[in-house]
Order: sequence, then structure tokens, then C-alpha cells
Amino acid sequence: MKLSFVKPNLPTRGAVVIGVFDKRKLAPSAARLDKQVSGMVTRAMKASRFEGKKCQTLELAAPSGIELGRIVLLGLGEEKALDDLAAQDLGGTVVTFLNRVGEATATVLLDDFVAADQFAYGARLRTYRFDKYRTQEKPKNKPTLKSLSIGCGNASKARRSFGALDRVADGVFMTRDLVSEPANVIYPETLAKAARTLTGLGVKVEVLDEKQMGRLGMNALLGVAQGSARPPRLVVMQWQGVAKSKKSKPIAFVGKGVTFDTGGISLKPPAGMEEMKWDMGGAGVVIGLMKALAGRKAKVNAIGVVGLVENMPSGSAQRPGDIVASMSGQTIEVLNTDAEGRLVLADALWYTQDRFHPRLMIDLATLTGAIIISLGSEHAGLMSNNDEIAERLSNAGSKTGEKVWRLPLHNNYDKLINTDAADVKNIGNREAGSITAAQFLQRFVNDLPWAHLDIAGVTWSKKDSPTVPKGGTGFGVRLLDRFVAESYEVR
Ligand code: BES
Ligand code: MN
Ligand code: ZN
Repeated sequence: MKLSFVKPNLPTRGAVVIGVFDKRKLAPSAARLDKQVSGMVTRAMKASRFEGKKCQTLELAAPSGIELGRIVLLGLGEEKALDDLAAQDLGGTVVTFLNRVGEATATVLLDDFVAADQFAYGARLRTYRFDKYRTQEKPKNKPTLKSLSIGCGNASKARRSFGALDRVADGVFMTRDLVSEPANVIYPETLAKAARTLTGLGVKVEVLDEKQMGRLGMNALLGVAQGSARPPRLVVMQWQGVAKSKKSKPIAFVGKGVTFDTGGISLKPPAGMEEMKWDMGGAGVVIGLMKALAGRKAKVNAIGVVGLVENMPSGSAQRPGDIVASMSGQTIEVLNTDAEGRLVLADALWYTQDRFHPRLMIDLATLTGAIIISLGSEHAGLMSNNDEIAERLSNAGSKTGEKVWRLPLHNNYDKLINTDAADVKNIGNREAGSITAAQFLQRFVNDLPWAHLDIAGVTWSKKDSPTVPKGGTGFGVRLLDRFVAESYEVR
């Protein structure tokens, strides 16, 4: 779909979308059009339930008096509630609507009540589709919208600020793609290969293989990988957005990349196991985020590290009760091979702080089923040893709609993962499962400012929302891009 910014003139073909505030109050351009069609817009509203509530739509097909195929009324809701997120929702809603009615060309006239760049961003985010494996889909079920023009007061300014948002959307789409691919296509080697494509944007990408990880002593990560025929990888991405002369400590993002999680010998039940193709969601976000930052040339030094493994049961798989020595030197008793994400992250986090001494680390992981019980799919879980970072993440979450909710860490939870046999065990009891998982991670951050995002509930969506079609959401890319932009970019 082609998005363009134009002067707010009435188009001569396709559809025109006009804005209506709550209580059927026409925006100025809508009122003008209503006059041209002899009050047809007002009459149509009165004959329907359309009230101008946010994201409501009403179609007037084949209006008389003008050349256009249709007029679409778009509810804007209350004027004072029209923030950036609302603008994005409106953009997404328009795209969905126009595709449903089979329109190919449309122009939106929103005057300047709605931020045109944000509207376009929402529209683009909603166009995402993962349809590469659908060879038999009927053309009439495919999206029809080819061109969306946004009429606004200052088209060149909107075009410019949309540029950066468009690059973030590129990152979101990459994450959605990676998360949507099945595990026979995306496994450690192919996921590493996907990360390598970022070199084209100026990201330095290194891929460590099994041997190199072995030499570094990453036995926690390697223990998870040893049951699989697919060898593990660790990918290190570096985006240098600040001139080398200016000293700027990097910030680091670390992702869980379990390309399929069967549970290993602690095998998961069959129902729903296919969902575990997206157990690399954390890694997917880190890769998509690096793409977004590099794509918009963010003035920040950022490191992305992803630990890539497949968790399989086999004759070579690790057993419950095995004790492994992590890169940090701490020994881990693996009591449940399905608590594998924390084992991968233990080595990835330790490696990241040891090699880069970053200003802070943020890890993302589809880590626990328990976070889905706690927060559902509305918020990601946030756990942190640093109030400032936690606060900044919450703020970025509210602003981007990728919301996070903080859960506590405490020494008394930490005690739940002590064991007689080793330094730490990889499960607690049944209580506070998301927190004990985070306590485990905290033992591998070496007291660096750190936050953990448990994205198990938000990585995949079963229902459409205005800017996020069902499927892989890309949750985390927009959040962290904003987090970086607000607090860590040099100006
Ligand atoms: N990848 C899963 C967590 C998960 C579950 C993500 C459902 C998305 C949807 C993780 O590796 C896991 O299996 N966690 C276990 C931990 C338990 C064994 C302590 C869980 O949550 O049940
Ligand atoms: Mn698991
Ligand atoms: Zn897992």
C-alpha cells in the first residue's frame, strides 16, 4: 500500500474519508463536503447509528453530485482525546474498513485535528499480513487498498516526521515476520541469518557458534541446545549511532530465542504446543528493534544479543537433575527442562555485561505461562532492580500502547531458588512463577541496572486490534524504540 501526504483537497476518484466528532459534529472539511452533496452526509448519519464515536465508520456508496465512488465517515470521538495513539487507531481502522469494502484508492481529509504522521503510522502498522504460505487464497479475500493519500495542512512536515515512524514500522514488521515463521523455517542458524541482514543498515553483526560458546563456558545455554539436531547460535548486533569520538556507553538488549520449545524431557502437553514456535519472540523483538534504531539512524549506541536454541527431547537432551556450570561460574541445577529460557538468558546476560559493560541491560523473553495468568495480554510483565528504568519503561509503554506492569523483586523470592545441590535451581515452587524466573535472571546481571520484560502474554494476539492484526504483534519494538528516543539519544 502506498501512503502519501497531500493538500487537503477533495479527490476526483476512489473514496474520500471525512472526520466526524462525537455527537455527529462534522469536521470542517466534512461540513464542506456535506454542502456539496446537498446534506446527504447529515441525512445518512441521522438514518444510522453512527454518532462519531472513535473508530466508528459509515459508508455512503455512490454519492450523487460528485465523481467519487464513496464517502466514508470516520468517527473521531472527543476532540480532546485525540492523542497520537488515537490517531494511529484511526489510521488502522480506515485501512481495515477500506479493505473490507474492496476499495483501491482513498483520500482522507482530517483537517488538522488528527496528527497526519501518526495516522499514517497506524495505517501502515495495520497493513501487516503474514500470507506467504497461502497459495490458494481467493483474490476477493485479499487486501484491495493500493493507495492512501492523507490530506493535511503541512504535507511536507508530516512526510518528514512519518519517515522515522515508517522505519520503526519496518522493525515491527520484521519482528512479526520472524515470530510468525514456523520452527522448520526459523531455527537458530536461519534466525542468525535473518539478523545478519541488518548489516545492510550499518549494524555490525557477529554470530557465535557452538564451539565458540563452549570456549566461553556457556554451558547453561548449551545444555538447553544439546537435545536438538539444530545447533545453537548467539548473535551480537552493534549499532553505533554516536560518533566514535564522543564517548557514549551503550545500552544493551538481550532476547530469549528459543526457536521451538517442546519443554525438552519435561515435555509439554500436545494441546497448543504449536504456539511454542514463537518462543523466540524476545529475540525477534531485539532484532526488530535494532532494525528500527539503525533504520531511523538513532543517535545512540545500542547492543543487541540473542541466544538461539531449540529445546527438544532426545537421547542427547539434558535431564531433570543435571547440573551445569554457567559462564558466570555459578552452577545451576536443572530441575525442569521446560524452564529453559532463563538458562539461555543466564549466559546471554552474563556475556553481555562482561563484554560490553553497558549502561543498562533490558531483556525480553516469553518466559513464563504465569505472566499470562497475572496480566493476560494487556500488559507485559516488568521486573527491575532500578526504579528509574522501570519508570521510563512504564512511561514509554503508556505512550506507545505497549503497556507494562511492574511486579516486585525481593530477597525472600530469591531464596525460593536456592538448592542444596548447586548454587541455584531453575524453578521455584508453584508460587510467583514470573517473579522467581526474574530472580533467577537477576543472579546473572552482576548488579548492572537491568529490567526484564516477560512478554509471554503479548507476543501473539488471537484478535485484531486497530494497529495490530492477529498473529505476531511485534510488542516491544515500539516500546523500546520510544524508551531509547525519550531518554538515551544524544541530541
Ligand atoms: N516458553 C515457556 C513460557 C510460555 C508459556 C510462553 C506459554 C508462552 C506461552 C517457558 O519456557 C516455560 O515453559 N515456562 C514454564 C516454567 C515452569 C516450568 C517453571 C511455565 O511457565 O510453565
Ligand atoms: Mn519452556
Ligand atoms: Zn520457553
